[in-house]
Parts: sequence; C-alpha cells; structure tokens
Amino acid sequence: MKLSQLLPLAGLAATASASWPEAQGKSIKYTTVQGYFLQDEADTVPGTFDYASSNLGLLNRTYPTDNDASGDAPQWERFARWVSYLNRNCRNKGDVRYKVLVMGRHGEGWHNAAESFYGTPAWNCYWSVLDGNGTTVWADPLLTPAGSHEALKANAFFKSHFADHGLPYFESYYTSPLMRCTTTANLTFADIDLPETRPFDPVVKEFFREGISIHTCDRRSSKSHIHAAIPALRFEDGFTEEDELWRGDVSEGEIQPHQDWRSQSVLDDVFVEDDATWISVTSHSGEIRSLLRVLGHREFSLSTGQIIPVLVKAEVVEGTPTTEPLPGFTSEATCDAPPVTSVAGQGCVCTQTA
Ligand SMILES: *[C@@H]1O[C@H](CO)[C@@H](O)[C@H](O)[C@H]1NC(C)=O
Ligand SMILES: *[C@@H]1O[C@H](CO)[C@@H](O)[C@H](O)[C@H]1NC(C)=O
Ligand SMILES: *[C@@H]1O[C@H](CO)[C@@H](O)[C@H](O)[C@H]1NC(C)=O
Repeated sequence: MKLSQLLPLAGLAATASASWPEAQGKSIKYTTVQGYFLQDEADTVPGTFDYASSNLGLLNRTYPTDNDASGDAPQWERFARWVSYLNRNCRNKGDVRYKVLVMGRHGEGWHNAAESFYGTPAWNCYWSVLDGNGTTVWADPLLTPAGSHEALKANAFFKSHFADHGLPYFESYYTSPLMRCTTTANLTFADIDLPETRPFDPVVKEFFREGISIHTCDRRSSKSHIHAAIPALRFEDGFTEEDELWRGDVSEGEIQPHQDWRSQSVLDDVFVEDDATWISVTSHSGEIRSLLRVLGHREFSLSTGQIIPVLVKAEVVEGTPTTEPLPGFTSEATCDAPPVTSVAGQGCVCTQTA
C-alpha cells in the first residue's frame, strides 16, 4: 500500500477548517528568509554552535517596524512585531505566509550511545537491526541520562527566554512519534508558566519522524504505547495504531527523495491547516536536515539536543503538489555477524563465512 493511501495527504483534502484555503491542493514553495539568524550565515560553524549561549542565534539588528517606543524592547519582541507585520501585509493577497519554525533535535538516545560504543560500521551493518544487546534497548529508544540532561537544558533556556527575553510563546507544538522526541518535548516544555491561550498541547505527526531506515530505532511504537507513556500527547487525524511505514522486516529503507517528499507534505499540512506563526517542532538529525533542504536553508547539522530557528516564507505557486516518488524504499544490506568494516558508497564488508 502506498503512503498516500494511509495518510490524508496534506493540503489535498478539502476541509472547511483550513487556515490557508488559497493554498489548499496547490503547490507551496518555501524559502528561508535570511538575515535574522546566525545559523543562516556561511561563517557560523554548526558543530560548535550552541543555541543556548547565543539567544537561539537571533541577530542584533533593527527592523523597519521599530519605532521610538521600541528602543528598550527585547530583540525577540521587536522581531515578533516585524514578523506579524510581514504576515498582515501579505495576507491581503492571500498567496504568502510567514512562520517561525523552531526545530529541536531530541536529546541523546540509547541508539546514539550504541553507535558510539560499537563504531558506525559495526552499528550500521549489524547491531542497528537488533532490538538491543541484552543490557540496552535501542528499538524506539528512550533518552540516556545525558539525553534527559540535554532536554532539561532546553527547558531552562525556554523558561528564562519566555520570561525575561521576550521570546514569544509557541502557538503550536509538533513532535515526531518516536519516543526520543515525545520524551524530549515533554521534558523541554514541562513546568513552564505558560499563558492560558498558549498551552503546551503537543501534536504527534507521523511525517516528522526520522528517515525510515531498517534500523530498529526508526520503527515506532504503537499509538497506544506512545499514548500510555505520555497521556498529554494528541495525535494527528489518521495516525495509525501500528507503524505501517517501517520496512526493516524486509530489509528496505527509505531513500532521500521520499523523505524530502514527506517533509514537503508535512510542512504543507502545517502551513495549510495551522494558523500559528510561532511553532515548535521536535524531530531528528536526518529529518531536520531534510526539512532544511525543503525550506531552502543551508545545510546545518544539529548535535543531540540542539535547536535551530528558521523564518520561513511560504508562497502558493503554479502546479499541484508533488506526488510520492516511487520507489520510495530500497534494499539495505547488513551482515550476519559484526562486519570487518563498511565502505562509503559500497556498504558493509562482512566477515567471510565458509
Ligand atoms: C546581541 O547582543 C547581546 C547583548 O549585547 C549579546 O549578548 C549577544 O551575544 C548578541 N548577539 C549576537 C548574535 O551578536
Ligand atoms: C550494550 O551497549 C551499550 C551501549 O549502548 C554498552 O554500554 C554495553 O556495554 C553493551 N552491552 C554489552 C553486553 O556489550
Ligand atoms: C512528562 O512530563 C511530566 C511533567 O514533567 C513528567 O512528570 C513525566 O514523567 C514526563 N514523562 C515522560 C515520559 O518523560
């Protein structure tokens, strides 16, 4: 069965409630509006950049909407005013929307720890397709203590930046269905004094999940299991009880065109259905890389627990949304025992067995 039959394709279903009806069933083009965040600049080095010590990377600058009264207002407050001006002034035309997406990678999970422990070749070619090693479980893994610590660091950051630095409260929260993300979101936004109109009310979206490799860390738990672990989560319409996308059991993993297609689909869904401007997304390294490609952002790799904001401009363009590329999955090889090594572009070099 094709993915498009399993999930209502974003933007195609005519719902009366769409917040952006002009874009429904149309093609949407995304661009990253540069000049607001350090992460957009070529000389910012992703590997050493830390959102927490740099106000999420927000640049100190003026905006056309600054006025005499805004001199002492925090940078975030003035930026938010500019973004709402951009939205007000293009909504008349109906074909453009702006949103600020703040995308966080989950804290370190047991699969990350295992990859470091075994080394990447042995991880990819052997260990990653098992559920664990007897002492650690890495099938839909939980956070390691270091990973929880990264989420608590984010919690402290948002607490202080909402309260003292004018960072706007998020209007919507989305998370990948994988436990490392639901748990990260839950810890990151716990016990924060939020206004009643902007509660932490996270929605699980299937397509914010990690690239669907044959690794067991990319196979999600059932909806009931996810719900039981964190009852506060809501699920998007059509979210299935079981994971119907993972194909590790037949050794097939998702290919990049397919991942980028579903990144575009989930963004289309959020832009068409959700009126919010300030949006939090908790996802994964590979999936955020894919979202950044679709958003026209430069490549920016995130370490575990890192966060990147993007000012996104979305425009309705001619044409219908891209359909799901076929094939979307391809065969991935592994070894029956820990491999000798793996070679980039060639894959696993297995131990010879007579
Ligand atoms: C903006 O200014 C503040 C206060 O002077 C400073 O702490 C911060 O590092 C500056 N941010 C950037 C991106 O230059
Ligand atoms: C299992 O993997 C973990 C790393 O995730 C490691 O710390 C542990 O020692 C491993 N257990 C065995 C029995 O090798
Ligand atoms: C979710 O957050 C609540 C509130 O901090 C906490 O009590 C609970 O243990 C968390 N659940 C998980 C699975 O992290």
